[in-house]
Amino acid sequence: MVREVGFMRVLVIGAGQMGAGIAQVLAAKGHEVLLNDVDEARIRRGIDGIAKRLDRDVEKGKLSAEQRGEILTHIDPRPHFRDLDIHLAIEAATERLDLKLELFRDLDRNTPPEAIIASNTSSISITTLGAATAKPDRVIGMHFMNPVPVMKLVEIIRGIATSDATYAHVRDLALGLDKTPVEVRDFPGFISNRVLLPMINEAVYALYEGVASVEAIDTVMKLGMNHPMGPLALADFIGLDTCLAIMNVLYDGFGDSKYRPCPLLKQFVAAGWYGKKSGRGFYDYT
Ligand code: CAA
Repeated sequence: MVREVGFMRVLVIGAGQMGAGIAQVLAAKGHEVLLNDVDEARIRRGIDGIAKRLDRDVEKGKLSAEQRGEILTHIDPRPHFRDLDIHLAIEAATERLDLKLELFRDLDRNTPPEAIIASNTSSISITTLGAATAKPDRVIGMHFMNPVPVMKLVEIIRGIATSDATYAHVRDLALGLDKTPVEVRDFPGFISNRVLLPMINEAVYALYEGVASVEAIDTVMKLGMNHPMGPLALADFIGLDTCLAIMNVLYDGFGDSKYRPCPLLKQFVAAGWYGKKSGRGFYDYT
């Protein structure tokens, strides 16, 4: 049964690509968003990015100028969080376990006991994050896809202790955002990245072994398999550092050599070639 979740007050942690996208889709449906990041400049950049995307929607006639203004009034910068009266927190911070554990401890202390704490993590264990709090039954994964305003999927990950009520609430919220929620259990990479990242890693191996050029590999997958982006362009879009982090989670989590990250991927990350966000990856963005 799908219930109306009503308007929620949601703390979104992380104003980067994913956090800002999540804030935008929540605000567009009338939820009240508190947007947090490590400093005010980052929050401002996140909100400016949302405003620009909404401007484009106004230009295309998908949104009126009034609706644009209304959406932005639902997003409130919140550089610090202490004793917050919220229904839900969605953490979309950098993909590092130590950082997320610290955030989850902080959230547990500074939010009402009944608030749900969700993570947008692409591969870190929800069970581990839940164990850092006093209420693992209220901890869950809410994995949005990039770009959040466009992609329909929300992968909902249940930690071993996540309750049915928490799951139902988050599923209903996702439906209310016009997304399609899919229930997944808490194993490395969940489903999305367990399937996607080995494909990307294999494309990097093919490049490393000189089987074909970057453009050739991407063309095969775009025209041959109807993927909207080739795997190497997609890797640049996701971020090569994130791709490597996810491969390491799969490799460590399953202990199977089939998940061994390609040495070329490691080398690109060591060089600071993270893809689109750093200006260089498999393609040049300068
Ligand atoms: N934010 C908001 N909207 C965006 C956007 C962004 N960053 N990028 C594109 N769009 C919108 C455009 O405005 C356009 O909207 P309209 O149809 O209303 O005009 C629409 O998306 C299509 O965009 P374009 O015509 O510019 O380009 P396109 O047709 O090539 O689509 C794309 C762009 C949607 C990104 C498409 O290439 C695509 O689907 N790529 C694959 C994306 C993907 O696989 N995402 C998952 C990554 S994995 C992940 O996120 C999880 C993880 O854990 C790693």
